[in-house]
Amino acid sequence: MAAQREHFGGRFTAILALAGSAIGLGNIWRFPYMVGQTGGAAFIIIYLAACLLLSLPIFLAEAIVGHNTHSGTYGAMEKLAPGTKWKWLGLLTVVTPLVILSYYSVVGGWSIGYLWQSFTAGFRDNEIGAVSSAYANFIAAPWRPLLFHTLFLLGCAVIVSAGVKSGIEKFNKITMPLLFVLIVVIMVYSLSLPGSAAGVAYLLKPDFSRITPSAIAAAMGQSFFSLSLGAGTILTYASYIRKDENILATGLGTVAFDLLFALIAGFAIMPAVFAAGIEPGAGPGLIFETLPFIFAKMGAAVPWVSSVVAVLFFVTIVAAALTSAISMYEVGVAFLVEQRGLSRHKAVVLIFLGTWTLGALCSLSFGPLADTKIFGQTIFGFCDLLTSNFLMTFGGLLFVLFVGWKMPKAVVRDEFTAGGTEPFNKAIFGAFWFLLRYVAPIAIVVIFITNFLA
Ligand code: PFF
Repeated sequence: MAAQREHFGGRFTAILALAGSAIGLGNIWRFPYMVGQTGGAAFIIIYLAACLLLSLPIFLAEAIVGHNTHSGTYGAMEKLAPGTKWKWLGLLTVVTPLVILSYYSVVGGWSIGYLWQSFTAGFRDNEIGAVSSAYANFIAAPWRPLLFHTLFLLGCAVIVSAGVKSGIEKFNKITMPLLFVLIVVIMVYSLSLPGSAAGVAYLLKPDFSRITPSAIAAAMGQSFFSLSLGAGTILTYASYIRKDENILATGLGTVAFDLLFALIAGFAIMPAVFAAGIEPGAGPGLIFETLPFIFAKMGAAVPWVSSVVAVLFFVTIVAAALTSAISMYEVGVAFLVEQRGLSRHKAVVLIFLGTWTLGALCSLSFGPLADTKIFGQTIFGFCDLLTSNFLMTFGGLLFVLFVGWKMPKAVVRDEFTAGGTEPFNKAIFGAFWFLLRYVAPIAIVVIFITNFLA
């Protein structure tokens, strides 16, 4: 079976695929509103520290498990710890990404809906209350969001069924460079708007009084989500990286791209938010409610520029969401192919049916199923909370404990030298080992408890 396994072409394509998983709605939708809600520049400083000191070591741990075994999540655990309870970590990290995919596809679908609107009617409501109710009505109406959710998931199915090289690698190779170009164009437009300077100042001048324990926990949680940690996607993609590749270099490259993209997205959105005179702490509705408002407002002056930027913006969101969604899809497919012996096509169909159904329930939970509550949450809210606050952190904790305390140190060391072909840097490995064994587990438990108490 190992001989038939597909591989990414080289280091750069592996980084593009991993960055494709990492860069998504988390960067364009979640990061800007978290910055807005949690203190601007101060949040960005904590976020940078969280990515480098916490998320990078966790990312490397998860990647090492996949790269070392060249297996999907369940197979990796069976290889490294056969016949033990660690197989549950293998199973957990099949379930987590599929639950995330189900609701992620709903938001991906909304983005397709907004993209459609940018092409057709455009955005004309230049009164913020009207924009908010248009958003609320759109997500609550049962059929259209369901249709867009279906389209989004179908897009994922088509890419994943083409395989690791001809589907996933190819899609990321084309889409990722394009995404960077698009987000830079949007940033330049946003910075050119009158009044945008206040947004730039907001992102650059830290107010240190806003560095609170809950801001720190939020930054750590955001870096977890943004780097797709603890969900088996990093493990699965790393299992497609050639044996003689250096995992440290791949990890550093991915984290650097993810950070850069989040920062550019921040500078693309916040200046526009300030230019339009909107409150930066608007929360999760920030891009879906305030951006159409901005497009309408700016469009009153030069309509065609605003329409073009709206199209570019929603193309960027849909594409970024797709590159992340296919990584989650692939985890389930790898499991069914490797552990259950299914053909790739059958596996793709089964995952489609399962995630479509759960996603449909999530979608309907904004309308007809709004009153169906699980632990006081709507179905969508429950899936989101369960995965981002608990399952991902729990999976991340288990990977860290597994690699830091169970795997032989020599095997882990080997991953830093591309299987002995590159020089070993003792200081870097020492820092990684310390962060992995002591800092990461404590930090994850802190996030976990903070989320529990919230
Ligand atoms: N990192 C993705 C984003 O920022 O949108 C979200 C994500 C992808 C989470 C894959 C979990 C996952 F397994």
